[in-house]
Amino acid sequence: LDNGVARTPPMGFNNWNATHCDASFNESMIKGVADAFVSLGLKDAGYTYVNIDDCWAEPSRDASGNLVPNRTRFPNGIKAVADYVHAKGLKFGIYTSAGTKTCNAANGFPGGLNHEQQDAKLFASWGVDYLKYDNCNNQGVDAQKRYKAMRDALAATGRPIVYSLCEWGQTTPKVWTWGEPVGNSWRTTGDISDKWSSMIDKLHINDDLAQYAGPGHWNDPDMLEVGNGGMTATEYRTHFSMWAMMAAPLLIGSDIRNASATTQSILKNTDIIALDQDTLGKQATIVSSGGGTTVYTKQLTNGDRAVALLNENSSSKTISTTASAIGLGGSSSYRLKDLWSKATSTTSGSISASVPAHGTVVFRVTRG
Ligand code: GLA
Repeated sequence: LDNGVARTPPMGFNNWNATHCDASFNESMIKGVADAFVSLGLKDAGYTYVNIDDCWAEPSRDASGNLVPNRTRFPNGIKAVADYVHAKGLKFGIYTSAGTKTCNAANGFPGGLNHEQQDAKLFASWGVDYLKYDNCNNQGVDAQKRYKAMRDALAATGRPIVYSLCEWGQTTPKVWTWGEPVGNSWRTTGDISDKWSSMIDKLHINDDLAQYAGPGHWNDPDMLEVGNGGMTATEYRTHFSMWAMMAAPLLIGSDIRNASATTQSILKNTDIIALDQDTLGKQATIVSSGGGTTVYTKQLTNGDRAVALLNENSSSKTISTTASAIGLGGSSSYRLKDLWSKATSTTSGSISASVPAHGTVVFRVTRG
């Protein structure tokens, strides 16, 4: 969507993967996350959006039809939290669904269908900078119609708001084929869970979607699980590497107030973040694959290429490609930087590494 925002994939936090609707999702958590953005250096690394997910609202609208913040979780309302986040130099995001109710229908939280203008105005008045708009309880109304209605309502507020379509990619035609003029990103997958198999499944759904991504409009394989404890550090490095290669939104989904040193070192790898945030806005494509290994390449704005060597096997593998195979021919030598170990080397063309089980080696490759 050409609305001036999300020219690179959005970076930030969303509480869903860490809390779902648990009571721990509340004002004090969200303020603490904003504090941690600053104190842990995540803000300096580029993370900007502090977003809240489902279960922030009361089950009923008020007498004027306005959404009401849950009185227990957000006793001071949402604007107070947005103000707190803004005072840290960060941005604030919220969630609702393009249906009569949100996805947590058991609790019956009201959705935005047929309330688009009223809800968009309310969000803008609270200082919302990002809206995740889900797809549940949509009453069978055409998806493009529902998502365009909120797009137009957001535009009418005059406030720049990142518009994230949580459409899961299940309708026909698929959301990536119509998403570019509608939203700043769109979910291409069902919900991720904190498991290697889930993460790899979400990744591969995006393998053939590079042509649909670009500045202002991104494929979204769902939020990060890094730090939630269900994968090894090696697997989380693969997760983070591949989301960056895929130019995906980087929304931290663990409670970073308690982030371990390992979690922080992954989330703050600025060399990997730079691939995600590269202003050319190209998503990686597959160079070759087989035997549980895949080689991806991503074009970068200064003429470099990133290459990711992904090993899904449960034992280490040597994975190889060449500079010309990743689209960088025409030179007698190339410099490689391993973006995790930080080791540098030169090569006349062959690019190869021994990659641990479930690991990914990522090189930035420069001519000359
Ligand atoms: C859907 C979305 C999730 C989350 C939940 C909230 O499942 O895909 O990301 O927002 O709804 O209920």
